[in-house]
Amino acid sequence: MKIKEILSEEGKEQKISAKGWVRTRRGSKHVSFIALNDGSTINNIQIVAEGDSFNEELIKQITTGSCISVDGELVTSKGSGQAVEILANKIEVLGAADAEEYPLQPKKHSLEFLREKAHLRFRTNTFSAIFRLRHALTFAVHKFFNDKGFFNLHTPIITGADAEGAGEMFQVTNLDLENLPKTSDGKIDFESDFFGSKTNLTVSGQLEAELGALALGQVYTFGPTFRAENSNTSRHLSEFWMIEPEVAFADLETNMDLAEEFLKYCIQYCITHNADDLQFLDKRMGDEERNLKKEERSEMGLLERLQFVLENDFVRLTYREAIDVLRNSKPNKKKKFKYLIDGFGADLQSEHERYLVEKKYKKPVIITDYPKGIKAFYMRMNEDNETVRAMDILFPTIGEIIGGSQREERLDKLQARMEEMDVDQEELWWYLETRKFGTCKHAGFGLGFERLIMFVTGMKNIRDVIPFPRTPQNAAF
Ligand code: 4AD
Ligand code: MG
Repeated sequence: MKIKEILSEEGKEQKISAKGWVRTRRGSKHVSFIALNDGSTINNIQIVAEGDSFNEELIKQITTGSCISVDGELVTSKGSGQAVEILANKIEVLGAADAEEYPLQPKKHSLEFLREKAHLRFRTNTFSAIFRLRHALTFAVHKFFNDKGFFNLHTPIITGADAEGAGEMFQVTNLDLENLPKTSDGKIDFESDFFGSKTNLTVSGQLEAELGALALGQVYTFGPTFRAENSNTSRHLSEFWMIEPEVAFADLETNMDLAEEFLKYCIQYCITHNADDLQFLDKRMGDEERNLKKEERSEMGLLERLQFVLENDFVRLTYREAIDVLRNSKPNKKKKFKYLIDGFGADLQSEHERYLVEKKYKKPVIITDYPKGIKAFYMRMNEDNETVRAMDILFPTIGEIIGGSQREERLDKLQARMEEMDVDQEELWWYLETRKFGTCKHAGFGLGFERLIMFVTGMKNIRDVIPFPRTPQNAAF
């Protein structure tokens, strides 16, 4: 039986077997108390080993990190702290863990240290809780869209396209880098590369998702995306997972409504299904923040913050309105921002986003209608010819969690934008054909999955919410 099930068997005394990894063992010569965890829950089951069948040699091998199997009797616990415990009849050590060498001792380790032990950090309370929540959120994403009649579309990971037009791609090739084939004019001959053309890892599944939406109506992707941007921050990964819904006949209003409902659904799903893990992380965040200076502490605890997002409408304002608010804000007037806001056209930095979300509105904020110059080529042009129907959703402590837009469905306008932004039209001929044949209004967005997990778990570094993070200079494990 899984420990999660065993712990819910209160009052039903019975023979039981369990397997798992030892968190701690304490006791005397005559009796040992073992805290056992099998990953099914944050909670441990207590094993009591008493009597002659547990010789010193066996007990000595039951150390933190070792893997054991236990047969015994489930009984009501005599001690405080747990309702039930297992009175062991037989214990077998399946895998010992040398106590001198095992890196995870029953004490607090730093997150940095645990990142270097990413192969073992699943065995800590913090990381097991995070990865159970990551699973719950994955499940919630699929359930949300499935229940709404969306179709999950698997878009390619290897592609020739640069969906965002930002040039931050990892190239995929099997050419011999020491001996590159050249064309007659001295350029690299990609025709002799594996796919017969230049290819890269995808930065987004959006363009292909649009093709799906313009036939299947509503689709979503959920896959890994790759960005070769050299930003070594606590919110950027080189390999991250993105969820990208795309909806035919939808405009930006519908898109915002969908995104807000979706985020709230995912958060509620965790509150309903992962209460133990969230309670643990809520306490963890509280403990962690007690060591911070007062002004650096969050105003709300983790659970309080999740509840708060569920109960409040997101604030919606245009980029122009946001710029006005920022220009007249205290930190701008007192020159406290690193990047001062002087007017239309400025890209919002995370300091500005955090001011709006954490200081001014104290709620998630959706900013729409950004200047065309700072957004991708596929966004729908507004009447003013200066702004596009973009939306960014900003979350407390995270900043941008979602980016999306209504798409440019008018062929002439789309081509004009591609021309202006120097996006290769020949390469994207298939994308342009959807505008030529049966085009229609449509919209979509991309949720950075790890940023959502950061918000739900209260973790402050994105490297701690993905099992094996890829960042500049690091692809270990
Ligand atoms: O804003 P982005 O670049 O938008 C797109 O890729 C669109 N194609 C989405 C769409 O409309 N279908 O990325 C979307 C989200 C961001 O809001 C952010 O949450 C996350 O992806 N993101 C990253 N997360 C981790 N590491 C990175 N390097 C990220 N870059 C973007
Ligand atoms: Mg963005």
